[in-house]
Amino acid sequence: MESLEKEYDTKIKFKEVDLLIIGAGGAGLRAAVAAAQEGIKVAVISKSLLGKAHTVMAEGGMAASLGNVAPDDNWEVHFHDTFKGSGYHGKWRQIEILVKEAPKRALELEQWGAVWDRTPEGKILQRNFGGHKYPRLVHVGDRTGLEMIRTFEDKVLHEKNVKLYMELTVTKLFTKDGHVIGAIAYSRTKNKIYVLKTKSILMATGGMGKLFRITSNSWECVGSGAALAFNAGVEMIDMEFMQFHPTGVAYPSSIEGILVTEGVRGEGGILKNKDGERFMFNYIPEKYLDSYSDDIEEAERWQSGDLNARKPPELLTRDVVSGAIIAEVKAGRGVPGGGVYLDIASRRTREDILRKLPSMHHQFYKLAGFDICKDMMQVAPTAHHAMGGIQINPDDSQSNIKGLFASGEATGGLHGANRLGGNALCDTAVFGARSGEFAAKYVKEADDDFEFIPEDEIKEALADMYSPFDGSNTENPFELQKMLQATMSDNLVIRSEETLNQAMKDLLELEKRIPNCKATGARVYNSGYHTALDLRDSIITAKMIVHAALLRKESRSAHVRTDFPDTLPEYRRKVFVLFKGKKGEIKVREHENSTLPEHLAKIVPEMEEP
Ligand code: FUM
Repeated sequence: MESLEKEYDTKIKFKEVDLLIIGAGGAGLRAAVAAAQEGIKVAVISKSLLGKAHTVMAEGGMAASLGNVAPDDNWEVHFHDTFKGSGYHGKWRQIEILVKEAPKRALELEQWGAVWDRTPEGKILQRNFGGHKYPRLVHVGDRTGLEMIRTFEDKVLHEKNVKLYMELTVTKLFTKDGHVIGAIAYSRTKNKIYVLKTKSILMATGGMGKLFRITSNSWECVGSGAALAFNAGVEMIDMEFMQFHPTGVAYPSSIEGILVTEGVRGEGGILKNKDGERFMFNYIPEKYLDSYSDDIEEAERWQSGDLNARKPPELLTRDVVSGAIIAEVKAGRGVPGGGVYLDIASRRTREDILRKLPSMHHQFYKLAGFDICKDMMQVAPTAHHAMGGIQINPDDSQSNIKGLFASGEATGGLHGANRLGGNALCDTAVFGARSGEFAAKYVKEADDDFEFIPEDEIKEALADMYSPFDGSNTENPFELQKMLQATMSDNLVIRSEETLNQAMKDLLELEKRIPNCKATGARVYNSGYHTALDLRDSIITAKMIVHAALLRKESRSAHVRTDFPDTLPEYRRKVFVLFKGKKGEIKVREHENSTLPEHLAKIVPEMEEP
């Protein structure tokens, strides 16, 4: 290895660790606690600084049917809401596990120090959110993801079996005979490479919002997890389903895309177009008319606590609300910033807003000099959450590659074609814990010895890693990233054969140019260099999204095709499984989700087809 260090003028550190967790968001940290408690040695790699994961962008709460505010709530109602919200496409077993285990995980978080908001009687308070029949989200004001990360971090930092590595980027997973054996990563802050031999890898790499121009995601979410997994032979599912959260900041443009929590609508906020019309009453899909009111007075009664009334349509699922905003703007009823108004100022007192939504007030006031207690916000859909990702076995969170586990947003199947707000945070807690536990079990049953990673594979990975410094390269990585984001935003928010073909054409063109990205200067703190490497992942993940979107010739929830506007029964259970072919191409296998077993089918009586 000394010769490699010399050749590449770097330090190579070798480590052996039982379980390597990639990603330090909610899922990764919760998995680390679970695995460490099983007595194995765990390493957690964070691309960024600890505590800065996208988990903090799930602000409004974690769904768990505790029934504190609505005594009739229970796991079955949560199952119904989640399955219906998923366009009846989610994997039932994943959903069943989620909704049954969420209450236990919410209480566990409290025992570990999360300071949930309380009801006047001192119970854990639960808030309204889109698609949930009852107030169900446990929360800490509008900083719930932050509180969860803080709580998990505290646990992890006290686990002697966990070693944390910050600001490392993994560029390749090594496999042998269909199982994982290690990974290679570079440090963003030191001229150092890490080769990690491991018995198991847990992908908690989050999402891919940065493939789009307007997003709530921060710079890390470039689709690397999906690309690393795909390159390692992992099967990916539901890649066509990308969630656009209805309320990202539309104005001012300096903070465009940043999330305005659904908690604003949960606390009574309403949407208006430029004429002041509360337009959501015009967009209630028939299948939701049983639970969402087309009558303003009834909606207001619900808002004031009458849970027998039908809900206000601002709390429809995200796919529906985003679609309505896009339609209003297209019809010329958008506001100057390009979206619609979100009004909490006329609905709640300043005191209430500051108590329930302190971060929203802070973010607008500090970043834009704008007071949400006085004025209406301008909001528009923002790329927020990938429903697609790694296909896992619901019960043990393992992928088709032995020893490769996954949890959280990195996985597909749980949320189907649309995720309910609040179900991401319970996903991180529930499946974070399960994946850590089962990965540890796998490690304990594995051979004692670590596998040898061949030197030529390490050499190849190093050559790839440093190739952007090749003096003959000419492309500007930031320009190419902008082009990639532009084609994804222009062609995929609303889709058709034509726009998807355009996106694929643009991506294939970019694919040829990306290896020619140029980096100059140092290897550390060099965002141009890091972007050049990120793009190699982004292009793979973007292509998977477009590929899958072309195959689904219907509209379903977040996947809106103008050329196939209907939702077709023959596609409900259809899943496109994408995997890497021998020449690196995307291959597809069609698969059908299994039908609901009897004990779950009876919870969803409105669904007639199997
Ligand atoms: O609007 C929000 O607070 C986001 C929550 C989520 O994505 O679950």
